[in-house]
Amino acid sequence: MQRVFSGIQPSGVPTLGNYLGAIRNWVPMQDTHDCLYCVVDLHAITQFQKPEDLLRQTREMAAALLACGLDPEKCVLFVQSHVPAHAELAWLFNCVARIGWLNRMTQFKDKAGKNAENASTGLYVYPNLMAADILLYKATSVPVGDDQRQHLELANDIAGKFNHDYAVELFPRIEPFIGGVAARVMSLRDGTKKMSKSDPSDQSRINLNDPDDEIRNKIKRAKTDPDPLPETPAGLGGRPEARNLVGILAAVTGRSPEAVLAEHAGQGFGAFKPLLADALIAHLAPIRTEMERLLRDTAALDAALRRGAEKAEALALPTLAEAKAAMGF
Ligand code: ADP
Ligand code: NA
Repeated sequence: MQRVFSGIQPSGVPTLGNYLGAIRNWVPMQDTHDCLYCVVDLHAITQFQKPEDLLRQTREMAAALLACGLDPEKCVLFVQSHVPAHAELAWLFNCVARIGWLNRMTQFKDKAGKNAENASTGLYVYPNLMAADILLYKATSVPVGDDQRQHLELANDIAGKFNHDYAVELFPRIEPFIGGVAARVMSLRDGTKKMSKSDPSDQSRINLNDPDDEIRNKIKRAKTDPDPLPETPAGLGGRPEARNLVGILAAVTGRSPEAVLAEHAGQGFGAFKPLLADALIAHLAPIRTEMERLLRDTAALDAALRRGAEKAEALALPTLAEAKAAMGF
């Protein structure tokens, strides 16, 4: 069975973007693949997290993943820092990856912003840790949103250079799995930026635990244009906000953008937005309710995550030992 790895940072409450771009695709893979899903707290601290928030955010993320349909009987669900082998392999990869490769990463430029000199060095080498996360399990399929494509190419470059330099066939090639009509959900304030849980300057995002009226308000305030919806997706060219809202409705109602436009062509956003809000609320309210239920028993949640970490570590340690032996340790 093909092995799958994917991770999500506990850097805030998961958003609609995380859900449609990643988590939703993780659920069916549990039945067809050998899946490891990880709350990547070591990645989250590449940007400052208040110590009193980190554990709560980690639990919230785990509860959200369970509420979306991950089942610890069908996948390995765990927290990255509970398996120290991630950090150890990442260090080995820091010594394999080239500075020029990291300099090409657009996410670093986006996240570091104008003052890149003041970004943490962890943010800079983040892709090396991500490569370690995946290759520690020799996972070959990684379901992620479209924004992660470049990091997976880098992980393949690291695997290739490691295998070459140390004359081994240790690490496999990784294939990204980027699926669905909403592989990149855009900000509701600016259709040219991705919706992100970790952008403090943009509060327009829809969080998986937002109450119904908040979802309705955020959709109402979403940036749009004055034109009616076109007959076909070709008519959404140059209209990123309109394209984004159509894509979101398509994704949560299990239809194509073509089918959504066939129904709503000619409608303005005054009519379209309330229907979109209704559809989102119908889809997200059960997830929120289940998240709240799971967070009432943190002892059970923590115990499930500990069991997940034990299973993950048993798979990780042999690979780490092979990598170290290849390097001469
Ligand atoms: P964020 O940028 O929201 O903090 P993460 O870096 O933790 O998200 O990414 C978790 C997963 O969610 C990744 O697979 C990523 O590709 C996906 N993802 C993040 N933002 C979006 C988005 N706006 N649209 C689609 N997928 C996304
Ligand atoms: Na499985």
